[in-house]
Amino acid sequence: MAKTQRNFVCQACGSTHSKWSGKCEACNEWNSIAEEVVQASAPKGLGKKRGREIELVSLAGSSERDYPRHVTGIGEFDRVTGGGLVPGSALLIGGDPGIGKSTLLLQAVCALSRKNTRCVYVSGEESIEQVRMRARRLGLGDAPVELAAAVNVRDIVATMENTATPVSLLVIDSIQTMFIDTIDSAPGTVTQVRTSAQEIIRAAKTRGIAVIFVGHVTKDGQIAGPRVLEHLVDTVLYFEGERSHQFRILRAVKNRFGPTDEIGVFEMASEGLVEVENPSALFLAQRNQDAAGSSVLAALEGTRPILVEVQALVAPSSLGSPRRAVLGWDPNRLAMIVAVLETRCGLQLSGCDIFLNIAGGIRIQEPAADLAVAAALISASQGRPLPPESVFFGEIGLAGEVRQVAQPDQRLKEASKLGFRQAVIPAGKKKRAGSPAMPATEIGHVQELADMFAGRQIRQVA
Ligand SMILES: Nc1ncnc2c1ncn2[C@@H]1O[C@H](COP(=O)(O)OP(=O)(O)OP(=O)(O)O)[C@@H](O)[C@H]1O
Ligand SMILES: [Mg+2]
Ligand SMILES: [Zn+2]
Repeated sequence: MAKTQRNFVCQACGSTHSKWSGKCEACNEWNSIAEEVVQASAPKGLGKKRGREIELVSLAGSSERDYPRHVTGIGEFDRVTGGGLVPGSALLIGGDPGIGKSTLLLQAVCALSRKNTRCVYVSGEESIEQVRMRARRLGLGDAPVELAAAVNVRDIVATMENTATPVSLLVIDSIQTMFIDTIDSAPGTVTQVRTSAQEIIRAAKTRGIAVIFVGHVTKDGQIAGPRVLEHLVDTVLYFEGERSHQFRILRAVKNRFGPTDEIGVFEMASEGLVEVENPSALFLAQRNQDAAGSSVLAALEGTRPILVEVQALVAPSSLGSPRRAVLGWDPNRLAMIVAVLETRCGLQLSGCDIFLNIAGGIRIQEPAADLAVAAALISASQGRPLPPESVFFGEIGLAGEVRQVAQPDQRLKEASKLGFRQAVIPAGKKKRAGSPAMPATEIGHVQELADMFAGRQIRQVA
């Protein structure tokens, strides 16, 4: 009989502590520690009982087909999952409340069920009627999806195990509502969330069922966040976006069956999430080319190049310590670029408030944005717009050197497709093979970028 004991568990990262404190030492989250009843750990060591011999096989083996995947036909979703859902795999999709997780999964499940794949959608949050209403609103009311409103993991597992026709895809919306009755803690706590997921994954793996868990991202630490589950599942996707913008980005942050950092772009419309075929055009749609402080970055998200607008505002500050605010990029990275521009190019920015925004609510992570940010900052501080048809990419080092980034040709190709006519890119050691997608100015130091302004190569507005 396992002994139970009380413990203090961080609801954000799952670490256990011997006593309560206001801040978790492991992840620095505040007010995230709650008391939980946990099953006492297994007895120390292996004891006397002998294990069974496990069968060892060769790596080469008789390789069966590559993973046969369940392809939904929703292109953006399939790409982010690495080409479809793998049977027996577990996928976690996290996101802020109301961002559209249930909508996306309902659409995916309906699409798949129409391809003779048995799909079960278990909702722990909404009633059957609510799910049906959503399906009708999305025009999917007739899809052969099987629904259940359930929260008891034992019942769900039993249903999967006792059915004659095997289930191919099981959606659990959301894992924080699931509970196992032998555990004392409330649904949503780390112990419940982790154990529930483990049980469902175990049952799914033995039957080759692909499982998708919805996980809420919470700030207040009342319920356990997806971080607690990230190690247990094969794939972690985040569904993100500004609620005020209509488009949403599905991003793979971990994938055992495909590339990470792959993104899918959707637009939230009344008929549900609509795939965006050409995200670059969407992100640049409202760009004002004549505004100072606006540059275009040729970014790479996963395997796909995407053009986004970088906006900078530089204004004299009335404060002792000027404001620096960043949306969609790393604030530390901005501080670094500002310091490099000051020390290596003699730009005067220290007395200025600086605001930086990646337009459209997308978040950029790669250092290739450095050069576009530097261009936007120089343009903003001088009040002069950049040439309208130019794109930028390149990493900037502390000495002011401009470093090469991955896939320059792909980025240039995308820019050329969208009508851009010139590019400022890192100088390369060897000439790029084949015919370049467009003429590009290669620079080795940010000073050369600043010189382009001084040399009046940049168009001036009257
Ligand atoms: N009647 C409607 N017409 C158009 N859009 C709607 C309608 N109802 C909901 N929506 C959109 O769907 C979004 C909610 O989607 P959904 O319920 O899939 O989100 P969720 O991430 O599952 O949320 P939760 O965290 O509450 O489960 C809303 O933010 C809204 O934009
Ligand atoms: Mg939901
Ligand atoms: Zn923590």
